[in-house]
Amino acid sequence: MSSPDVPNDAPAVAEAGPGAQATAAAHLSDATILGRASVNDVDAIMDLCSTNADPDATEHVTPDNADAMFTWDYEKGQRPRLEKLYEKAKVSQWNVTTDLDWSIEVDPYEAFSIMAELGPETGWTTDPTSPIYNWGDKEMRDFSYESFTWRLSQFLHGEQGALLCTAKIVETVPWYDAKLYAATQVMDEARHVEVFAKYLNEKVENSYPINPHLGILLDDIIADSRWDMTYLGMQIMVEGLALAAFGFMHSFTEEPLLKKLLRYVMSDEARHVAFGVLSLQEFYTELNAAEIRERQEFAFEAAVRMRDRFLQQEVWERMGVPVRPMVERVLDLPEEQKVFQAMLFSKIVPNCKKLGLLDAADGWLRDRFTEIGVIQFEDYVDTASEYGEFSIDQERNAEAAAG
Ligand SMILES: [Fe+2]
Ligand SMILES: [Fe+2]
Repeated sequence: MSSPDVPNDAPAVAEAGPGAQATAAAHLSDATILGRASVNDVDAIMDLCSTNADPDATEHVTPDNADAMFTWDYEKGQRPRLEKLYEKAKVSQWNVTTDLDWSIEVDPYEAFSIMAELGPETGWTTDPTSPIYNWGDKEMRDFSYESFTWRLSQFLHGEQGALLCTAKIVETVPWYDAKLYAATQVMDEARHVEVFAKYLNEKVENSYPINPHLGILLDDIIADSRWDMTYLGMQIMVEGLALAAFGFMHSFTEEPLLKKLLRYVMSDEARHVAFGVLSLQEFYTELNAAEIRERQEFAFEAAVRMRDRFLQQEVWERMGVPVRPMVERVLDLPEEQKVFQAMLFSKIVPNCKKLGLLDAADGWLRDRFTEIGVIQFEDYVDTASEYGEFSIDQERNAEAAAG
């Protein structure tokens, strides 16, 4: 992420005043945004994977450069849509301990099969030059289990990132309605951390450390001093991807405990993403072209980090498969076979469009999202418009009525 402390290498930026049109040429280079020459630089992607210096460490310190802000303006409802979210959040709290049936027996090898990702269309198990040539049922089953565990572990680490980021928003956002809403999200995220940790510990009995790509992104989000960047990084990008990923797993699992917990988590996440869209929609109207361009660059950086995260290098490593050739194969898949990866952006892209980030600066972000194969979601419904559809209130009331 470009931060206020990083010298800007685009001369046009200094000339861009309020209302000025930033040009595509004014954007920072990939080398500055991503720390590598091109999006698909496999060497750089692999180098980053080896930076997880101490995977057994139980603590990680990252600088938080923001000031805490009080407001003495206690008039509630100045932002009615945020107030509505806050009122909804207060009555939509659920309890990990009592609202889910933890007596359900789970077979983690069967809970979520992702065989389809290694399906015949990739040719990877029938190609003699492939590292997974001749994989049989046992290897596929083991891979499926490891990949499932890895996904849940990254969900867990991402949830802790959301917990810290939203606690930071409580401190930094200047608006009273937003502080109140963010406080409810802190409690939501505490429950999400709790539920994924409990499921991994009790039902899967396996876990992975944080993926380096995700770790760098979370550190970047927390380190930025600007309060709106926390929203963009967490509520729009990380939580937008999480909402899609939870939905994907929810629709493909028949494991009843996992299915219900994902449904419950999604009802909260949709509200969180809506919180981001509604807040930034207002704030971005105050920004000039150069400032909007910085937000575009950060959205792109976050998107690439999250795409790289889903290369799941650690799973290949644990399976004893050479990692680099598998990463190359995943990156080289034709677009039509990247449908699972692309779907993860089905919330991010329409929300970025709603915020005006796709088309600002001559459509710079539209071009970049086209480059990484996710622009096709731009006309999907944005989350500020659809969050109510994720509500679990009716289900919970029906369960309560049924005793
Ligand atoms: Fe969450
Ligand atoms: Fe969330």
